[in-house]
Amino acid sequence: MQMKLDKIRAKKCKEKIVMLTAYDFQMAKLLDKTGIDLILIGDSLGMVIMGQSNTKKVTMRDMLYHTEAVARGAKQIPIIGDMPINACSTPSVAIRNAKAFINAGATSVKIEGYQPAVIKKLLSNSIPVMGHIGLLPQTAPKYLLVGTNKNDAKRILNDAKSLDKLGVFSIVLECIPSDLARKITASVTAPTIGIGAGKYCDGQVLVINDLLGMDENFRPKFVKRYANLSVVIKQAVTKFKDEVRTGDFPNEEHSYI
Ligand code: KIV
Repeated sequence: MQMKLDKIRAKKCKEKIVMLTAYDFQMAKLLDKTGIDLILIGDSLGMVIMGQSNTKKVTMRDMLYHTEAVARGAKQIPIIGDMPINACSTPSVAIRNAKAFINAGATSVKIEGYQPAVIKKLLSNSIPVMGHIGLLPQTAPKYLLVGTNKNDAKRILNDAKSLDKLGVFSIVLECIPSDLARKITASVTAPTIGIGAGKYCDGQVLVINDLLGMDENFRPKFVKRYANLSVVIKQAVTKFKDEVRTGDFPNEEHSYI
């Protein structure tokens, strides 16, 4: 799998990188057949799987449970474990948690924010790291565009350069202006993977439930819906309900005679 991560790095400026989140076995098995490059077990599972309003209550236990499930389904595509809040409180805590992700089947971990001591420790223990800067949901009071003023933009650019020097294999840029993402992408050797960061990144990531239109009420600007599964699911369930009530299901075709 390390070779596959090297190939991700090599895609910079050549081919766009495609990453999606997954949280369960069946979705991972499907994604594994699509030719995308990376699967992230994101701590966004706090919202999309657990129904919380943010990622602040997600634990290592939650993350490992879902990582193991995804690892059973994804046999080709490298999977990345998202270190949840408090999982990197010290370098030694981070090492213990990152190793738990690797034992659960992840090839690497993603770390939110510029945390040099932690990242150095993981890299020196041969654990590949994906950086994540811009909007940091684990600590942000609100989910808003960041990097819109000069100081913030400069700090984010500097963090990207520092992450690059440390040797992360890619950097997620979340919710920053396209122009800043373009500047960062041109300034670092690691590929950038954007979410709400515009078209100049080396790749794109979306939360799979958002791409599939699972939540009819969730429509942020940066999400494009490629399907409308909330409608499909409600239609299917309503039909099932109606057929059970009329006695049309099960018929002979679906019964053991
Ligand atoms: O948790 C997550 O899904 C993420 C992506 C939005 C990058 O961190």
